[in-house]
Amino acid sequence: MATGPDGQNELENIDLNPAKKFAEELRGDPMAGWLTVPVDRAELLKIKQTAEAVNQNSEYLVCVGIGGSYLGHKAIIDALIPKSKTKILYAGNNLSTLSLKKVLDEIDGKDFSVNVISKSGTTLEPSLAFEVLKKKLMERYKDEDRVKSRIFATTDARSGALHDEAEEKGYTTFVVPDNIGGRYSVLTAVGLFPLAVAGVDIDKLLFGATAEKDEFMTNLAKNSNVPSELAPLSYATIRQKYHGKYHDVEILASFEPELQTLQEWWKQLFGESEGKDGKGIFPASVIYTTDLHSLGQYLQQGRRNIIETFLKIPLEGYNDIAERATIAAHKEGKIPVFEIGVKQLDEENLGRLIYFFELSCAISAKIQGVNPFDQPGVETYKKNIKSML
Ligand code: PA5
Repeated sequence: MATGPDGQNELENIDLNPAKKFAEELRGDPMAGWLTVPVDRAELLKIKQTAEAVNQNSEYLVCVGIGGSYLGHKAIIDALIPKSKTKILYAGNNLSTLSLKKVLDEIDGKDFSVNVISKSGTTLEPSLAFEVLKKKLMERYKDEDRVKSRIFATTDARSGALHDEAEEKGYTTFVVPDNIGGRYSVLTAVGLFPLAVAGVDIDKLLFGATAEKDEFMTNLAKNSNVPSELAPLSYATIRQKYHGKYHDVEILASFEPELQTLQEWWKQLFGESEGKDGKGIFPASVIYTTDLHSLGQYLQQGRRNIIETFLKIPLEGYNDIAERATIAAHKEGKIPVFEIGVKQLDEENLGRLIYFFELSCAISAKIQGVNPFDQPGVETYKKNIKSML
């Protein structure tokens, strides 16, 4: 659902043709491997069997990675109720010694394993944390073979520092496919292995994403013009329509605090895919009702350059009433409001949602006229760090 600042239904006169053209174009893109939700059966089996072994011998799995290498699986784990006895911890997504120390303190004296995830294999933050965690493994398990049996490397199939080290030391490895970039990789081994260890039903997750894809592709093939049948294209088209006017901030709003990491994943997906060439909608997020008491004032009466997308899940009691009241208030405040519905918070529907956002993001970036799959700007800070080091 999408309502413009004057209360009109934005979906009524929407022209989906440019977005359809870009969706067709995407099929031939060398970095759109995620579009078909590819599942390598042998890799999936290896993921499940390895996860089971980790569940047997580890109280903790420390996932080391940054950006697309950790946000997607953390988002799903946080959105669901953990079913496994192995707790997932995160490291290497910043350079804070305090954060790392907290992880080291928590695993101290406990049985743990490490999943280091880096497509390039050279990213500074995970590389440093991995070095520290290897020392911690050695301190606890004393023996090279025992240590290596507790390290799982998810990286490029052929090259990179992590790939080379894994090959030399004999770690178990999982592959980040060549044609899938970090922020589109949650439904590959990058996300599937830690999710399986966390007790998430990865078959249902993939089933949901595949169902979303199949429905979309069928509707695209029959050249549907029904906005809800091509929802990713509708969302992409509408947000770019506002981007072309005056709106340069999009807020993803949720009334469920457990969806905060999903919002972070969404911000990374859209921010890195669209923010380039002096263009792009700045992705931000709020958790209500908490943020109604901080950013609520700005949203209601501040600068009118914001569009707001409500991620709607089934809510109960006061929270449901508060959501309806807030949407009505923000419409009164002339914020263009979009609503994305998730039937329930489970693996299948999260799989659907991930596919929905990945597809809308790629199409939205294409409508905007930028490459959804690169991030040349991220290199600048890395170069500066290198030269300062
Ligand atoms: O989306 C992306 O490509 C990035 O956010 C990467 O995931 C992030 O920079 C980490 O890169 P790597 O997996 O190579 O360590």
